[in-house]
Amino acid sequence: MAEPLRIAIAGLGTVGIGVIRLIETNREMIAARAGRPIEVVAISARERGKDRGIDLSSYAWVDDMQAMAMRSDVDVVLELVGGSDGPALTLARAALDAGKGLVTANKAMVAHHGLELAELAAIKNSPFAFEAAVAGGIPVVKSLREGTAANALTRIYGILNGTCNYVLSEMERTGADFDEMLQAAQDQGFAEADPAFDIGGIDAAHKLAILAAIGFGTRIDFDAVRTEGITQVRASDIAQADALGYVVRLVGIASLFGEGEERRLLQRVRPCLVPFRHPLAAVTGPTNAVVAEGDFSGRLLFQGAGAGDKPTASAVVADLIDIARGQSGAPFSVPSGALVQCAPADPGDRVGRDYLRFTVADRTGVLAELTAAMRDADVSIESLIQHGRDKDGGEVQVAMVTHDGPENCVSKALELLEGSPNLTAPPLVMPILKD
Ligand SMILES: NC(=O)c1ccc[n+]([C@@H]2O[C@H](COP(=O)([O-])OP(=O)(O)OC[C@H]3O[C@@H](n4cnc5c(N)ncnc54)[C@H](OP(=O)(O)O)[C@@H]3O)[C@@H](O)[C@H]2O)c1
Repeated sequence: MAEPLRIAIAGLGTVGIGVIRLIETNREMIAARAGRPIEVVAISARERGKDRGIDLSSYAWVDDMQAMAMRSDVDVVLELVGGSDGPALTLARAALDAGKGLVTANKAMVAHHGLELAELAAIKNSPFAFEAAVAGGIPVVKSLREGTAANALTRIYGILNGTCNYVLSEMERTGADFDEMLQAAQDQGFAEADPAFDIGGIDAAHKLAILAAIGFGTRIDFDAVRTEGITQVRASDIAQADALGYVVRLVGIASLFGEGEERRLLQRVRPCLVPFRHPLAAVTGPTNAVVAEGDFSGRLLFQGAGAGDKPTASAVVADLIDIARGQSGAPFSVPSGALVQCAPADPGDRVGRDYLRFTVADRTGVLAELTAAMRDADVSIESLIQHGRDKDGGEVQVAMVTHDGPENCVSKALELLEGSPNLTAPPLVMPILKD
């Protein structure tokens, strides 16, 4: 058999240990498919003595993970540490600089520094791969880079954060409020002790920026992703959405508008109303799903486990098999120099329907004020539902669904209402996902 592909693993947490288990479990099958064995020649993490639930005594331990990049017996460095900058980025740069291949599961680092790393990899003619950085076990990076390569994609969107999807779908199933279901997600191990990146939409935004760059051949632009999390979504919004024929999901959407020089990219992560009949409505729990719309392929749906040791390891090792076969193409589907700089679209230009929820004082004239603001801003209301008083009797909730219209008009209506003494909490706007 051919020479082994020799790898060094930095980070022995959930993903790192998952990778070692997978390589040990499927060693022969992987070697047969890769055309050569994959051999772990060095491992590193912060704390050598930590019990990691697996016997690591046969692997060479390295205290200083940065030293892995310099070893002559290493072909590929696996960065499975995490963090957009810090030691992960230092290692990634050092590995590529030293002419090693780089495989990572680190979406934060790829979203912030992916272009720089892709350029470095191109200069060094080294493979750089990050299948595991987006949607865990779903081979969506490879699918967009290869399977849909003949298509012009116009829209890529999906459920990109398992924690948020678990919380929202459990709120829907149980009728409980956000805080209770976030606690349940933490108890079940679906949410980090500090869930800010997940519930704030940042984690989904990292993944969306990566998918947009691959799918559209644009220079990755994480800063242009407009991000809203799920903390404002109430159980009553979910019940209201249900009555109207929708579920609420945190959806990352990347869409291209215009042609040539006028081409604009809109990247957004926000809670959306998803029609019952849309395939994303059936995606519950910590599952991820990505939809890509190609001009020839039509709508494609990729669905599966978005995180966890086994699915993520599956994606990492798939990258290694590609490298072992000598099949690593441009990380973002076209050579980094050919990636196009695409200006961000104005979100106000979006035309669509929205769900608006107002929490208002329970007094006469409030509905008239809301509808007047809609009229003055040219927002056409499809339905308006006022709920009874809350248990303290002081405020009521008013929900509206708009007809198709420019988002600018909804923003203008909200501006007109800003500072109104009748509004007792900030309004919530959720777009209705188009079929
Ligand atoms: N967990 C998932 O399901 C999942 C899914 C997709 C992508 N990812 C990504 O995969 C990466 C790893 O995630 P994870 O869940 O495996 O993280 P984790 O369980 O927290 O493990 C991180 C590992 O990195 C090591 N480490 C941290 N800081 C270090 C430092 N300064 N020097 C040396 N080692 C250091 C830790 O060492 P010690 O163990 O000694 O503390 C630990 O072994 C992240 O980028 C994450 O976003 C994770």
